[in-house]
Amino acid sequence: MERRTIGATALEVGAVGLGCMPMTWAYSASRRRGDESVRAVHRALDEGSTLLDTADMYGPFTNELLVGRVLRERRRDAFVSTKVGLLVGDQHIVANGRPGYVKRACDASLRRLQTDVIDLYQLHRADPEVPVEETWGALAELVQAGKVRALGLSAMGARAERRTGTGAGAGAGARLHDATIRQLERVQQVFPVSAVQAELSVWSREALDTLLPWCAARGVGFLAAMPLGNGFLTGTLTPGEGFEREDIRARHPRFTAEMMAANQPIVAGLRRVAGRIGPDVVPAQVALAWVLAQGRHVVPVPGAKHERWVAQNAGAAPLRLSAADLAEVAALPRAQGSWD
Ligand SMILES: NC(=O)c1ccc[n+]([C@@H]2O[C@H](COP(=O)([O-])OP(=O)(O)OC[C@H]3O[C@@H](n4cnc5c(N)ncnc54)[C@H](OP(=O)(O)O)[C@@H]3O)[C@@H](O)[C@H]2O)c1
Repeated sequence: MERRTIGATALEVGAVGLGCMPMTWAYSASRRRGDESVRAVHRALDEGSTLLDTADMYGPFTNELLVGRVLRERRRDAFVSTKVGLLVGDQHIVANGRPGYVKRACDASLRRLQTDVIDLYQLHRADPEVPVEETWGALAELVQAGKVRALGLSAMGARAERRTGTGAGAGAGARLHDATIRQLERVQQVFPVSAVQAELSVWSREALDTLLPWCAARGVGFLAAMPLGNGFLTGTLTPGEGFEREDIRARHPRFTAEMMAANQPIVAGLRRVAGRIGPDVVPAQVALAWVLAQGRHVVPVPGAKHERWVAQNAGAAPLRLSAADLAEVAALPRAQGSWD
């Protein structure tokens, strides 16, 4: 698989990574299968999808434990990217960016991951109660202690901005990521940022406005989260099929039967482009190829817990969308359904 370089410290990873989150978190619990997920992680490494993205809060903790089962055997084949700074409580998810906490959390992640170093340690969200420089200083000390190789910042943008419209209109991204860019400017004064993680997909393109250019100008990598639109862009979901209670899509405004039906033209467009490229090409691969085409510093981390999907997603790496294909995807209708 093509390799991509992220960050000033030149970390090399396969162009398409693997998001491990669906294996133990956020999607239908009844469909989780530990052994199948472990096989999916092995398959990713076999295919050259070296970047495994997880977080201590996924599960919580079970996601890192699962990834650790593979790392125990294949540490050298993998690039481990995990996150710290969010805690799952009884009712809410809360941020904790206190220096002492992030250092203890790192040791716990290392134990669960069965490794002595994390390749990319990402601050999941900045803690509004703690100056981000303080949290980042503690993370930098982890690099100096050899427990972490590089630092990343994960941010999903200001949710309030998402309420204002489809989230895909001109300039929406600039506003969505304003706060993230301010945080990035502050932490860069303390220790270099190697990668930013934020949502980017055919139906959520806000990062293209300012965040992606900010990263490109500074040699910072960009990990594209939710590149398949939580599965919608694969064309394998049926409007109205319903989601289990704990599945994030059960509460997601783009996943009501009405909005899934209204957004079908986006999937139809991806299918059209796929059909033109080749008989075996699927919409998921076009969606990922479009993300890959947004810059050499971009690495999508599609979430998947089935070997079949992992192999299919890895198959997007060699696809090259023509100028006409890219123009066709760019001209697809904007997604309908606000986020919250
Ligand atoms: N930093 C953050 O705050 C944040 C937030 C969200 C996500 N993320 C990261 O981004 C990663 C990806 O996001 P995500 O998993 O939520 O969304 P996604 O990658 O857009 O979509 C994942 C969904 O697509 C399905 N899928 C994957 N490949 C497929 C294929 N080829 N054909 C058909 N269906 C396919 C998966 O099904 P199966 O599960 O059944 O395999 C899963 O339900 C996560 O794993 C996580 O690492 C980060």
